[in-house]
Amino acid sequence: MQTSFERDTLADVREFARSRKPGYALPRSFYTSPAVFDHDIKSFWNNSWIWVGHVSQIPEPGNFFRFDYCAESIIVVRDRQGTVHAHVNVCRHRGSRVCLEQSGKTSVLSCPYHAWTYDLDGRLRTDRAMNEQFSRADYSLFAASLRIFQGLIFVCLSDNPPDFSPALARLEPLTTPFGFENLKVAHAASYPVPANWKLAQENYLECYHCAPAHKEYSRSHSLKDPASMTEELLSALAKNSCRAGLPGTALNETGQDAENTGCDIYYRRYPLYPGYSTGSRSGDPVAPQLGELKQYDGGATDVMIGPLNSFLVYADYAVGFRFVPMTLQETDIQIVWMVRDDAVEGRDYSLEDLVWLWDVTSRDDERIIRFNQQGVNSIAFKPGPLSSMEWGIEAFYHGYLSRFLE
Ligand code: FES
Ligand code: FE
Repeated sequence: MQTSFERDTLADVREFARSRKPGYALPRSFYTSPAVFDHDIKSFWNNSWIWVGHVSQIPEPGNFFRFDYCAESIIVVRDRQGTVHAHVNVCRHRGSRVCLEQSGKTSVLSCPYHAWTYDLDGRLRTDRAMNEQFSRADYSLFAASLRIFQGLIFVCLSDNPPDFSPALARLEPLTTPFGFENLKVAHAASYPVPANWKLAQENYLECYHCAPAHKEYSRSHSLKDPASMTEELLSALAKNSCRAGLPGTALNETGQDAENTGCDIYYRRYPLYPGYSTGSRSGDPVAPQLGELKQYDGGATDVMIGPLNSFLVYADYAVGFRFVPMTLQETDIQIVWMVRDDAVEGRDYSLEDLVWLWDVTSRDDERIIRFNQQGVNSIAFKPGPLSSMEWGIEAFYHGYLSRFLE
């Protein structure tokens, strides 16, 4: 059997990116080629803003957490003055990982190999028995770019990251009522999947699969079927959102409508079915209202900040999604549940009720993404046409493929 895209050199992939007919899935090499994966990391991940956490995870000086993808590792730490830093987790001596714990509290960052010690701001503080000419000032930890938007921490390994300040300024008034800066992480979970990261990313960007693959989600979310998003539902949501204190505006600057490569931004609120105040098993709220909201308006908000970072925000909780590449066909689906920071577990929310929907939905996703990769690995795979419900994938391809043309 012959397929139209057998070879997997970068030259072939570049040629494909140049001459691609929009509206179709990508050829197999994008999900099977080590050269493409290497390019994905170097050109796309290392040059994109990645959402890594929330300031509430590092409330005090010395608090830190680590974020890893592929071969990269970044330490996010609050220094003695309260400033948040992102350091590349590579020792300036002979390259060992410096920070081995996932999170914690420390007064210094100490390399486990030969015990060079770094201040929380990244400066080399002590070395051992180096010669007199050695200048510590030249050996600070490398800094990653860091940006905090409403308490959400983004990092980028590039010294010249995409400038998404203008896009964030447009998003800011829309997300302000949710009080993102006053959230806390209630739970985080990983769903490793034996698939290329793009299959996981693409899966999140379309709800064409929701009706057949997500029984629980589909009971409550009208996004599963555009026809079910009736005028009646939409106008009820508009009225309720207004009463709740949420702007009715939508914002879609993705794909070719993004201001710059890597600056995709999206905000859209859509209705849940009657009887559902939030994404929960019973439809009842699972946590206190976020931010300044005055009521549960029966809606869900899709937010995207940069091409890699997606959030789903209900009136009472927010979920963050990351599809983190580890190897060519190993991806960590990372899901983070956030509630308002003064909510107390057991009193204001039950963890089981809070995580139920996106735990069961993420397990479904892991399964369909795994089977997707298995089929894509076959010599018989030929990319088929995208449905109009998969417009988000087309927008993603636009920014993604542009990296092959730079
Ligand atoms: Fe870190 Fe030697 S590699 S001190
Ligand atoms: Fe899904």
